Amino acid sequence: EKGTYPHYMLKEIDEQPAVMRKIIQAYQNEQGDLTIDDDIIEALRAADRLYIIASGTSYHAGLVGKQLIEKMAEIPVEVHLGSEFAYNPPLLSERPLFIFISQSGETADSRAVLVKLKEWNYPSLTITNVPGSTLSREADYTLLLHAGPEIAVASTKAYTAQLAVLSIISYVVAQNKQIHHRFDLVQELGIVATAMEALCDAKEEFEKITIEFLATTRNCFFIGRGLDYFVCLEGALKLKEISYIQAEGFAGGELKHGTIALIEEGTPVIAIDTQRNVSGNIRGNVKEVAARGANTCLIAMEGNHNSEDRYVLPEVHEWLTPFISVLPLQLIAYYASLHRGCDIDKPRNLAKSVTVE
Ligand code: F6R
Repeated sequence: EKGTYPHYMLKEIDEQPAVMRKIIQAYQNEQGDLTIDDDIIEALRAADRLYIIASGTSYHAGLVGKQLIEKMAEIPVEVHLGSEFAYNPPLLSERPLFIFISQSGETADSRAVLVKLKEWNYPSLTITNVPGSTLSREADYTLLLHAGPEIAVASTKAYTAQLAVLSIISYVVAQNKQIHHRFDLVQELGIVATAMEALCDAKEEFEKITIEFLATTRNCFFIGRGLDYFVCLEGALKLKEISYIQAEGFAGGELKHGTIALIEEGTPVIAIDTQRNVSGNIRGNVKEVAARGANTCLIAMEGNHNSEDRYVLPEVHEWLTPFISVLPLQLIAYYASLHRGCDIDKPRNLAKSVTVE
């Protein structure tokens, strides 16, 4: 139920801190340590390479998941769109494990891949919000998102829940492999939840930013580097699907290889800067587009920020920044859709679960 909320999307954005806490609990054992089934740990450790299969927002979560798994658990990962993999599979490693990421667990493009795998006898794990869904039933293993029903077509809390479960897998496997990281994921996810709350409380600020940058525009660019780039892809998808503003996410360094030609006087460019090692680079990119007339909006993480920034994100662990940098982009998409009078929860031409290929 929507309760006092005008739209499911806004309610689901607001639920994200609570979902983080729910996931931490769901994956803690009696001692308070994060854990997943031994069978799943074994399957992950037996694999020489993981293949993540997903679509849309879940694919964007997979791109971040690859970084988390490779950094923490040190297993190589490839991320593929179901619709591409099904008809043009890459050369596989000797001992692959397939990970399906799907909020609904019903996405036909992913299922087409799963059907093939089973013929090849490869193991599979589904990460889904819906127990008993097709992808869950047909895979060998399942991990649940515990995000509660997601009703709005535009996915929000399922995305951050997917990131949380992917971080837990990475952390648990790392511990099992005796790879020790100098942080406690339970604590770091708690910090994330608190930061998310602060962002949810700052909604009016994001409504202002939306009015300032997107009131009359027909297009919008999102730029970032490293993890911020993947969040930009998600921010652009969110904006286009519910506000119908043409939006694209770019790796900052790619601008000069083509896209910068599209920058005109007043073109909105939203830049994310949470990654210390590329902060100078992305700020350089912002200057390049500003010099060509772009209306630039810099969203930076505390610690990286300086006076030209439009919004400062509370600090979280450098690997977990997508969990919070996506919230401003979800809210900007929401307000852009609201101010344009669009049907926020049910955008045109889209369905919540895509059960045809
Ligand atoms: C975007 C969105 C879609 C889904 C995609 C995959 O907001 O909701 O891009 O992410 O259709 O759906 P699932 O995760 O159910 O497989």
